[in-house]
Amino acid sequence: MIQTADRLKTVQEYYFSKKLREVRGLMAQGKPIINMGIGSPDLTPSEHVLKAIQNSVFEAGAHQYQSYQGLPQLREAIASFYNKRFDVTADPATEILPLMGSKEGIMHISLAFLNAGDEVLIPNPGYPTYTSVTNLVGAVPTYYDLTEENGWFPDLEVLEEQDLSKVKIMWLSYPHMPTGATATREQFVKIVAFAKKHTILLVNDNPYSFVLNTDPASILSIPNAKDVCLELNSLSKTFNMAGWRVGFVLGSEEHINAILKVKSNMDSGMFYGIQKGAIAALESSDDWFVELNKVYSARRELIFQLADTLGCSYDRDAVGLFVWAKLPEGSVASEAFIDQILYKKDLFITPGTIFGSNGEGYIRFSLCITEDKIKEAIARF
Ligand SMILES: Cc1ncc(COP(=O)(O)O)c(C=O)c1O
Repeated sequence: MIQTADRLKTVQEYYFSKKLREVRGLMAQGKPIINMGIGSPDLTPSEHVLKAIQNSVFEAGAHQYQSYQGLPQLREAIASFYNKRFDVTADPATEILPLMGSKEGIMHISLAFLNAGDEVLIPNPGYPTYTSVTNLVGAVPTYYDLTEENGWFPDLEVLEEQDLSKVKIMWLSYPHMPTGATATREQFVKIVAFAKKHTILLVNDNPYSFVLNTDPASILSIPNAKDVCLELNSLSKTFNMAGWRVGFVLGSEEHINAILKVKSNMDSGMFYGIQKGAIAALESSDDWFVELNKVYSARRELIFQLADTLGCSYDRDAVGLFVWAKLPEGSVASEAFIDQILYKKDLFITPGTIFGSNGEGYIRFSLCITEDKIKEAIARF
C-alpha cells in the first residue's frame, strides 16, 4: 500500500461509520434493532419541492455544469429566507454562498482561514467535524467547556484568561447540538464583542433553528456581526433534505470571497434540479414548520417517556432534533450504558462522549424515528 499523508494520522474513522457497521452486523444476525442514533430526517420533503426537482430535469441546460456561486435565484431565495425568518439582511450577490451541505462549509472555511499551527476554539461537547477538519488542515483544536451549569454557553471570563493570541476561528453552534441549548440575544452580543476584541472569526453553525424552536435566531442579527462572523445553515433538517446536500454560508463579501476561492477549486457547482428544489423549499409557508414540528413534538413526548423509563433527566425546553438526557446518578459510563441497551434491548442510542469529554454522563436520542418504533422501544423495558 502507498504510504498515506501524515494528516491522515490526525483523524479516525467517524464514530457513526464504525458503530453503524456494528449495528448493521447485529441486524444481519436478525436482531430487531431500533436505531435512535443518527439525526437523518425520515420524513419527506414537501410535495412542491419534489415537483420542482422533477420538473427541472427537462429544462434546457439542466444537466450542464452550474455556477460556482449557485443560481442567482437560489441566493435570492436564501436572502429572502434569512430576512423573513431571522430579520437579517444579506446581499444575494456578494454575501451568500450555497454549499453542498453545511458540513463541507466547515472544511472550506478552515482551508480559507487557517494556517498550520493556528488555534481553533471548539465546543466540548460539540459536532465532531470541527475537530477532525481542524486537524486535517494542520491547525490546533483548543476546547472550551460547555456544561449544564453554564447553560451550555461558553464562559467568556474563563476564555479571557487564556492566551488567545493564536486563535483564528471559534466554532459556535446555536441552537446547540447535541444539547439543544439556545443562546439569548445578549449572549450573542457578548460573544460577537469578544470575537471582535480578539480578531477571531466566529462561525455559528445553525442547522437546527426550525426544529421545535419557537424563537429562531441568527448571530448575524447582531449589529455589525458580519465584521467577524459567518453563519452556516442547512436544508437538511429544516426541510427533510439531508441526502440532497444543500446548505449555505452567509457573511461579509470579503469573507465569502475567500471561501469561494477554495470552493471553486474543489467542485463545479450544484446540480440544477437540486437548486430548484432548494428554492421551492426556502419559499415554504409557515404551515410547513407547523406540520413538521407537530410530528417532532409528538415523538419527543414519547422519547421523554423512554428517558423517564431509563431514569434519565432532561430539559423539556431544549430545542432541535435530539433529546439530550443525563444518566441516573451512579450509572455506568455513557458508552457502557448504550452498549448494555444495544446488546440487551436491541436499541441504539448515541453516547454523549462522542461529542467530547463533557458529554460523559449523557446520552442523545434522535427524533428521526416513528412514534410506533419509540413505543416499541418503551415496551422493551
Ligand atoms: C451541528 C451540525 N452542523 C452541521 C451538520 C451538517 O449538516 P449538513 O451537512 O447536512 O448541512 C450537522 C449534521 O448532523 C450538525 O449536527
